[in-house]
Parts: sequence; C-alpha cells; structure tokens
Amino acid sequence: MSTTQMSSSAASRDIKDPALAPAGRKRIAWAAQSMPVLGAIRDRFSKEKPFKGLRVGACLHVTTETANLVLALTAGGADVALCASNPLSTQDDVAATLSADHGVKVFAVKGEDHARYYSHIESVVATSPQFTMDDGCDLVTTILTKFPEKLDGIVGGTEETTTGVIRLRSMESEGVLKYPIVAVNDALTKHLFDNRYGTGQSTLDGIVRATNVLLAGKTIVIAGFGWCGRGIAQRARGMGAQVVVTEIDPTKALEAAMEGYAVMPMEQAAARGDIFITVTGNTGVLREEHFMSMKSGALVANSGHFNVEIDIEALERLAEGEKSKPREFVDEYHIGDGRTICLLGEGRLINLAAAEGHPAAVMDMSFANQALAAEYLVLRRGTLAPAVIGVPEEIDKEVARLKLAALGVSIDALTPDQRKYLASWHEGT
Ligand code: ADE
Repeated sequence: MSTTQMSSSAASRDIKDPALAPAGRKRIAWAAQSMPVLGAIRDRFSKEKPFKGLRVGACLHVTTETANLVLALTAGGADVALCASNPLSTQDDVAATLSADHGVKVFAVKGEDHARYYSHIESVVATSPQFTMDDGCDLVTTILTKFPEKLDGIVGGTEETTTGVIRLRSMESEGVLKYPIVAVNDALTKHLFDNRYGTGQSTLDGIVRATNVLLAGKTIVIAGFGWCGRGIAQRARGMGAQVVVTEIDPTKALEAAMEGYAVMPMEQAAARGDIFITVTGNTGVLREEHFMSMKSGALVANSGHFNVEIDIEALERLAEGEKSKPREFVDEYHIGDGRTICLLGEGRLINLAAAEGHPAAVMDMSFANQALAAEYLVLRRGTLAPAVIGVPEEIDKEVARLKLAALGVSIDALTPDQRKYLASWHEGT
C-alpha cells in the first residue's frame, strides 16, 4: 500500500497518496455547489473568525462533504486535525487534498485495519484538541478512557449521529462526561433529512453499486424503523421492491404497518427476503438462526453506524472458510448446505463503504448545524455544564430558512391576528 506516513511523533498526516490531491480538489468543489448553506456560513466565518487559533479534533467520515465542513472551520480560524469515523468510509483523494492544499492534519486511509483506525484517532488526540467533532463517539471515548489528562483543555464538542448521541447520554448518566457536547443529530434539520432522505437514498445507492442488483420485484427486509429505516423503506418501495419491516418498538412497528409495509419478526422475514438491511443501532440483529433460513444468494447489508448488527462471526463459522469475492464489496459465504449468503461492505455502513455517503445537498444541512453548533459552544466557552445539549431552536430554524432560500422556496408569515390568536386562550367554539 502506498501510504505516506510522517515518521516523527508530531506526524501531520497518514494518508494513502498525496498525488490524489488534484482529484479530491475537483470533487470537493463539485460538492460545494450543492452546499449553499454551509457556503454562506463559511463566508461569514472567514470575516468573523469565531475559531481563531482553536484546535479542533474531528473524527468524521472523510468525504467531499466533510471537507467542506472542515474548510468552513479553517476559514473561521480553526486548526483542524481529522481522522476517519469508520475504517471504510475515507475518500483517499479528499484526505490528500485537505492535507496538501489546506494544511489540515489528516489521518485516514480507506481500508485501514482496527489498530490503524485507533492509532489515527490517537494522532488526533495528540494534537490536544480544544474542541471535538465526532460521528459515533469514538474520539470522545478514546479521550475519556485512554487520555483523560487531555480533558482539561477541551471547551466543547459536537456529535453527528444517533449512535454517538446514545453513547454520550450513557456517559452523562454515569457522570463521566466532562464537557458540553451538542447532539447535532437531534436537530430537526439534521435527522428528518439526513437520516431519512440521505440514508434512504445512499443505502440503496451503496447496495446497487456493490452488486448492480435490480431492486424492482425484490423483497427487501429492513430491520429498524427509525428515521433511517423509514427513509430506506420509502425509497425501496419507490424502486418497486416489496418491503418488509422488523421492529422491537410497538409504536414504530404500528407506524410501519399503517404505512403499508409487511411487519413481522426477523425469524419469519429471514425466509422471505432477497435483500436484508440493518439500521437498528443495535447488536446481533441478523444471527445464525436467520442465516439458516435465508434463500441462497441473499444479500445482507448494514447501514447502522457500527458493524455489529450482522453476526459476521456466525457467517464465518457456517462457511468454515468457504468464501469468495465476486466483486469488491461482496463477500460470498458458501454455507455447508450448498446455499450462499452475500455480505456487502464487510457489514460496515454500506452507503459509505461502497458508495459516497449521503449526497452533498443533504449534508449541507447536517454540517451547517455542526458549524453553527460549534460557534454557539465556542462563544459560550466556560459557561455551560458538562452535558449533552440539544441544538438551539434558533439554529435549527435558521438552517431551514437558509436551505429554503437556497432552494428558491418562499413561505407565508403569521398575520398579526394569527399571532394574537395563537397567544390567547379566550376564543373557543
Ligand atoms: N454521513 C453520511 N453521509 C456522509 C457524507 N457524505 N459525508 C460525511 N458524513 C456522512
């Protein structure tokens, strides 16, 4: 592998190949065209410099969209160190551009193994970040468990995803969270759009790019009917698939049923599905007993944050080493009874492993929230308790307003009478 790692302990990068920078440059500019909200924030940051001299440590998917977020932060005066939040999601050309053109310290190589993934996080920690940006909470967890001495210098952080927010809340309830972190995922302009339309489209994109499968007429089993599951189900139906949903939450299951999807336990769904997609955020969702009743040739993919939803060890056990690789992101397990089961993208986020993640137009809103939440925290440094904080409503609404304006959509405003009516309780039937 031709990677460039600087040798000193103060290494400023570990990337695949700096020569990839020109390709990344073009693709980052292409994504920027679909990120007008973040672009406007970047322009303001470059004048106001809210992050002047601030060391930011970011553990995010290293994509063209993330590059645009990083450029907004550096325009605002931040000094950024970046590592990947998933071993398979890095776009190596983007890593090269950020390092070569923008002085960002980048530690990320697509396909890095577990040890290198964590050594990259540790390289970011070694820069002594004053602010953390996480997607899945691996950076904060590493600081907390291995480098607690770094906590004193940290003023705040942000977290991008559902799984990361769950981990942070668990830290908060155990009393170990040491600085305020904004749960960007909880903004309406994040999860209603990114999780639903972003994951909905990019998950199917990843499966199609990995396999070239025709979705029309297939039975697609979706485990989990949160915002990501809802989005995937909607798009899968739109592509002509029969959608089956599995859930553990009665309200979500009811919603799926009333949306017209078949709802059943995985035990039954396993025998029906052609394609399986896990998006529960939980562990061991597809297990040996399910693999045992799947059709031969079933495609199995995950779009939840961690690669724990599909029991890969069970697949390995069942196949006893009989495994082939017909395509880059397909591992075909030959089960003893003559059937095959195809695991896509090693069970990692299929939209980022085999495709490019969510489109820039939706990451525009997620990363506008990231940028504004970071500014919010930095402006209030030292005044907020160590807790998981929601994105302030004014930021959420501002992101929606700016996105609507960029789309050329205008809306009504309350009349004075309507405002008065909503504020009073006197008028009834
Ligand atoms: N998460 C999902 N899609 C993404 C993207 N395109 N960039 C960064 N993080 C993402």
